[in-house]
Amino acid sequence: MAPSVIPILLLFLTFSSAAPTANWWDPPSRPTPDSFINVTGPPFLNSNQAASPIKGFIDAHNHPTSSWAFGGRLLCGQPFSTSGGISTALKDCPEHYPNGSLALFDFLTKGGDGIHDPVGWPTFASWPAYDSQTHQQNYYAWIERSWRAGLRVMVANLVANGVICSIYPFKDPAVGPGCNEMSSIRYQASKIYEMEAYIDGIFGGTGKGFFRIVKSATQAKDIIAQGKLAVVLGVEMSEPFGCKQFLDLPQCSTSQIDKGLDELYGLGVRSMFLCHKFDNALCGVRFDEGTTGAAINAGQFLSTGTFWTTEKCTGAQADNPISPVSAQQKQELVAKLGLPKGVKMPDYTTAAVEGSPQCNVRGLTTLGEYALRGMIKRKMMVEIDHMSVKATGRVLDILQAEKYPGVISSHSWMDLEWTGRLYQLGGFIAQYMHGSEDFIAEAAKTAELRAQYDVGYGFGTDMNGLGSWPAPRNSSPVVTYPFTSVDGGSTIDRVTTGQKTWDFPTDGAAHYGLVPDWIEDIRVVGGQSVVDELFRGADSYLKTWGASENHLP
Ligand SMILES: *[C@@H]1O[C@H](CO)[C@@H](O)[C@H](O)[C@H]1NC(C)=O
Ligand SMILES: *[C@@H]1O[C@H](CO)[C@@H](O)[C@H](O)[C@H]1NC(C)=O
Repeated sequence: MAPSVIPILLLFLTFSSAAPTANWWDPPSRPTPDSFINVTGPPFLNSNQAASPIKGFIDAHNHPTSSWAFGGRLLCGQPFSTSGGISTALKDCPEHYPNGSLALFDFLTKGGDGIHDPVGWPTFASWPAYDSQTHQQNYYAWIERSWRAGLRVMVANLVANGVICSIYPFKDPAVGPGCNEMSSIRYQASKIYEMEAYIDGIFGGTGKGFFRIVKSATQAKDIIAQGKLAVVLGVEMSEPFGCKQFLDLPQCSTSQIDKGLDELYGLGVRSMFLCHKFDNALCGVRFDEGTTGAAINAGQFLSTGTFWTTEKCTGAQADNPISPVSAQQKQELVAKLGLPKGVKMPDYTTAAVEGSPQCNVRGLTTLGEYALRGMIKRKMMVEIDHMSVKATGRVLDILQAEKYPGVISSHSWMDLEWTGRLYQLGGFIAQYMHGSEDFIAEAAKTAELRAQYDVGYGFGTDMNGLGSWPAPRNSSPVVTYPFTSVDGGSTIDRVTTGQKTWDFPTDGAAHYGLVPDWIEDIRVVGGQSVVDELFRGADSYLKTWGASENHLP
């Protein structure tokens, strides 16, 4: 071939691959093989923001990076892979082969023996599933499907828990040594930027992808005006900046808090939790219930040297009840988590007495107040979920005195009694991704307040967040396919990845690609007004964020 022909040929190739019929929302270079999206139609643009509220859903609580948290092997499969695409990304952890008999975290969270088919791509016989906590749900193309169906803001919470990381025996050496929570957060931040770049590559180059990490409300609005997904970075960790406490001795200083907040801000983090699961040097936590609660309380002991301590609540709000633990459960916890043999776990029987709700004795500490004020100074949004009633009350008092609106409850871990106060401050609330009937019922409890304060509503999927998701729901009325997106502009069919096609009535919300199907389920169950409120969610969240940025001390 004559060399002079090559440029002409290249010109021709470039021209033909960027054929004029190509839609901006269809990636020109998706790897093969890959997942399908099964949504057709253009994403709505929101170009006339001045005239009307921004349209679109917000997932205020997601965890796309947890496969790199907890030592990197607790949650198996990745949201993307630069080295082999979907066949590398959606693969189980090595120790789950050949049959899951070593899927240790499954025993603890799901009960049973962990036995499952480890093969993900392309057959997906056992996972992802609505009731599996240990497998990837946030594959990028599944997020893409939710975006195409109307998702416009997603809060990506980088997550860390040093105790879970230490206890779990399998680790990925690539995620770095040890279980230091700040190192884990740094690593996950680098990964989510890599994910943004990976998606950009598929969509034709830097800035072209739908997945855009944003650092201000203005930037978010700009991205949404283009019809894309604004991704806000948050942090949900148990020992922020090393602020754990042991036997009530704080393990951090105010200068560590400042340094830590500056570092997180520098990474692009704009929203965070001050405590999560274990009482730390900043605040006391809202308890977990049931057997999960017992395991978390054992973790609290390993982290802090004490179990949760309760007292009678003094106000209208209460922390979640702690279920009394049987002698056999105690034995199991000692064996599974390596608690010291003679350790005496409180049985909380008085806490279970009806009519005397129990609250965590711990509230916001002096260091916690310092961290909170540090967040206000940096105009970061404060997540109050997971805080004890005592801590939440103090936080709301401070925010009220400071007239600071940046307060978020993102996944139903706040006593609903606080709803009015939070809206009065200008804050935003999202409900955990409960099954549609429960979601509608919980939404109804606070609908009047949302009408009064004229705010939209959010959901928090908590995918990859070690929870559980809406189960299959196949009693009439059920989701039928294809259905139309809430804006009316797109048609949504069942999602196919490899040899598997997911159907909401029979599979439930197995992964992020089923979020649109779950919203449709809410609609068919009779929740059109809830869906309408959710479609205003992105707008309200951005109002809260924007007002926080404009806050004058
Ligand atoms: C799972 O695989 C292990 C290792 O090959 C084997 O010993 C065990 O019998 C298998 N269990 C089941 C239930 O298939
Ligand atoms: C999803 O889209 C792909 C590609 O167009 C198609 O092959 C597959 O059958 C679709 N799935 C469903 C359930 O329609």
